Amino acid sequence: AATAVLGTGLLAVALLGGGAAIAADPITLKLGYSLPPTSHYGVGADAFAKALAEKTDGKYVVEMFPSNALGGEREMIEGAQFGTIDLVVTSTGPVGNFVPDTLTFDIPFLFRDYAHARGVLDGEIGQAVLDKFPERGLIALAWGENGFRHLTNNKVAVTEPEDVKGLKIRTMQNDVHMRAFTTLGALPTPMAFPEVFTAMQQGTIDGQENPIPVIVSGNFAQVQKYLSLTGHVYSPALFIMAPSRWDELSDAEKTAFKEAAKIGADAMRKQVETFEADGIAKLEAAGMTVVEHPDGARFAEALAPAYAEYEKRFDPALIKRIREWQ
Ligand code: PAF
Repeated sequence: AATAVLGTGLLAVALLGGGAAIAADPITLKLGYSLPPTSHYGVGADAFAKALAEKTDGKYVVEMFPSNALGGEREMIEGAQFGTIDLVVTSTGPVGNFVPDTLTFDIPFLFRDYAHARGVLDGEIGQAVLDKFPERGLIALAWGENGFRHLTNNKVAVTEPEDVKGLKIRTMQNDVHMRAFTTLGALPTPMAFPEVFTAMQQGTIDGQENPIPVIVSGNFAQVQKYLSLTGHVYSPALFIMAPSRWDELSDAEKTAFKEAAKIGADAMRKQVETFEADGIAKLEAAGMTVVEHPDGARFAEALAPAYAEYEKRFDPALIKRIREWQ
């Protein structure tokens, strides 16, 4: 592996294992993401970098900027639009502000399980959304995965939708999610991820929602007492690329980038499964009270007014097609 210490003080690792050579004059690409290097995003980004090096004979070296080193997800996506960041691994959280078609996937309780979500995203419905990115000044290489989101807070063991009333919950900068929490009577507070830990520590918010791997790797047990396994929404991730970089690639290189991103996405999904397998036990051991079976059916029922709005805003036939996907 080739390593270099960046000006940010971070260790950048260009993974060129598996016998891939570094070209004489490699092109270095900056890749940013919000989670630590050991996270599912880190594992996915490393697998992408390795596959890309192999597929392009070491022409492209990827420098990693994990842990929000290049800013929160919204800022990084803007960076890709401007061409100041080459690649971003991000949740769809803020992406709907750039490419509104992604918002349909952010509807709560849309996907039954991982197989359902992955099947839809990897099929023609997911591809049709990836195809919308260029007209919004971005390139989407592949869907990755953040995971099903669960609720944590410091006030109450949430089992019923009524328990959420009055809770100040940090959401992503995503109005589909915010609408859902408002409908439940919570006070959604959109906030960039880098600010969330301190906000929980200082009590400016009561809680937040994220997949188990994020709750574990973010050490949220230090500042949150209750975890409810609401699984209220699936959180897709994306490999995004700056169009300015993309336009420089040959057709064969474009294919290599997409294939490498798919390899990265598969590694990311595997890592989500690995972290989920022991994550809940870890959080309990760290002192969190876990509500394993909150009343999901009642949460979905309580969201009826929000669903009525989503049906008006998005294509109801598409929502139905996604729900009925087998
Ligand atoms: O909560 C968020 O903002 C996202 O889930 C995170 C943790 C940045 C991962 O994409």
